[in-house]
Amino acid sequence: MDFKEFGFLILSHFIAIYYWLEAIFRFFVPRARKDVRGDIVLVTGAGSGIGQRLCIEFGKLGCEVVGWDISEVGLERTKKIMADENLESHFFCYKCDLSDRHQVYDSARKVKSDVGDVTILINNAGIVTGKKIMDCHDELMIKTMEINAISHFWTIKAFLPSMLEKDCGHIVTVASGAGLFGVPGQVDYAASKFAAVGLTDALNMELVHMKKNGVKTTTVCPYYIDTGMFDGVDTSILPIIKLDAAVELIVDAILREKVYLLMPRLLYFIYGLRGLLPAKSMLIMGKATGVLRSMDSFVGRNKSK
Ligand SMILES: NC(=O)c1ccc[n+]([C@@H]2O[C@H](COP(=O)([O-])OP(=O)(O)OC[C@H]3O[C@@H](n4cnc5c(N)ncnc54)[C@H](O)[C@@H]3O)[C@@H](O)[C@H]2O)c1
Repeated sequence: MDFKEFGFLILSHFIAIYYWLEAIFRFFVPRARKDVRGDIVLVTGAGSGIGQRLCIEFGKLGCEVVGWDISEVGLERTKKIMADENLESHFFCYKCDLSDRHQVYDSARKVKSDVGDVTILINNAGIVTGKKIMDCHDELMIKTMEINAISHFWTIKAFLPSMLEKDCGHIVTVASGAGLFGVPGQVDYAASKFAAVGLTDALNMELVHMKKNGVKTTTVCPYYIDTGMFDGVDTSILPIIKLDAAVELIVDAILREKVYLLMPRLLYFIYGLRGLLPAKSMLIMGKATGVLRSMDSFVGRNKSK
């Protein structure tokens, strides 16, 4: 390390303290919401749950909304709701299987020519098997990784170039609390969500390193939400989050350009503790709070509907 690097190291400690103070200030006085009127927002997994609600909310905010989903029935449902809200002319939907990168690139080309350059990309689609590792079929595990994590490579590669060109845009990852902590019955799911968190984290660093400060990233890590995806899970430790409340927080985090959104807030505390406490004490806490058995009663969306 030369003298200049050493100087920068010392300076970086003071800058880090400044950012700490800024974070505390921002906790009480949040950054103003950005105006997204006229933005082109692409939501994957738009046919159901969180994705469907994000389409509606961004439509109401004056955006052109592009919805992707593998389910045509789901997309039709979202289209109907958008029509009921008088937002039909601002909604463009495309059937796309995210686990097939050729479909992702083809659909991206269509979006570019039909609607324009996407300015906010929300990687939201996801699946969960809910099976323990030895009970989970290889193909299902691969699918989980492909949809929940690997597809983000293709969507980002498809839509980031125009954001970089204008130094303006936003990449949002709807990951999960399972992207921060492992839970029994979620080995494949947690692996895919840790990957999604990691890739967005590295992308954020890459953007800063490229001095593309106008392109933002937001990583969303929620606990269970009542969309049906996790039907049957034992959520006795913390109440399941209502879809409305979750979507409100996600939209707010995007508009305020938050880098991370963990919900409920308690997750920030537990995540911090994890860095401080010995691994065994986290395990004991998991046992005592019932987290370790939460997936034992999992049914999931497909079997419950
Ligand atoms: N619901 C929860 O408790 C919860 C908690 C934390 C994180 N999440 C995450 O939030 C996101 C949305 O979850 P949700 O609860 O709204 O689920 P959901 O099942 O209601 O919606 C997921 C959507 O993704 C679509 N999809 C699945 N495979 C696809 C594929 N190959 N190509 C394109 N689309 C595909 C589905 O058709 C569906 O419309 C997921 O990534 C999920 O992992 C959910």
